[in-house]
Amino acid sequence: AAAEVTRRLFELIRAVPDFPQSGVTFRDITPLLADADGFAHCIDLLAEPWRDAGVQVVCGIESRGFIFGAALADRLRSGFVPLRKPGKLPPPVVSAQYQLEYGSDALEMRADAPHDGERVLIVDDVLATGGTLAAARSLVEKAGMHPVGAGVLIELGALPGRARWGGGLPLHALLRY
Ligand code: PRP
Ligand code: MG
Repeated sequence: AAAEVTRRLFELIRAVPDFPQSGVTFRDITPLLADADGFAHCIDLLAEPWRDAGVQVVCGIESRGFIFGAALADRLRSGFVPLRKPGKLPPPVVSAQYQLEYGSDALEMRADAPHDGERVLIVDDVLATGGTLAAARSLVEKAGMHPVGAGVLIELGALPGRARWGGGLPLHALLRY
């Protein structure tokens, strides 16, 4: 039954060749989000490894990580803290920079919340190079929280994202390409 559900989830993700640039296959998750059973199963399966992990806060990464992170926080009955692109949150914030293929970007989180030592699950839709997830982890650590791991819907296996995350903390991916 689990294999059947996974097969259905793959079916609901549309491959778009040469988007956003030539040579790249974009994995479009919008058909999956639009499917009631597909989305519910997806959140069920994402939650599964963390049932007994004592997660107090889910940190979702702007923007697609918000969709899965918020639903997962609800399912795990934890709080939700958004990790946002720069300039979106009012001060005070903590921030962490990360490298892109060309240039750099950053994530920010509010710095005035009483999250000291809280157990955090980091959530995003896709793991590619791992730059985004690594930045999220250092941000969470900077803020004095305690990361317990990361959950993503899709892992793009041809890219070294998992190596960048490192072996010290669990990283669970539902679907691998
Ligand atoms: C995409 C994706 C992940 C990230 C993965 O986000 O949603 O967050 O890239 O890439 P990486 O592992 O190489 O860092 P993007 O920055 O395109 O923005 P979006 O979520 O707002 O669409
Ligand atoms: Mg993203």
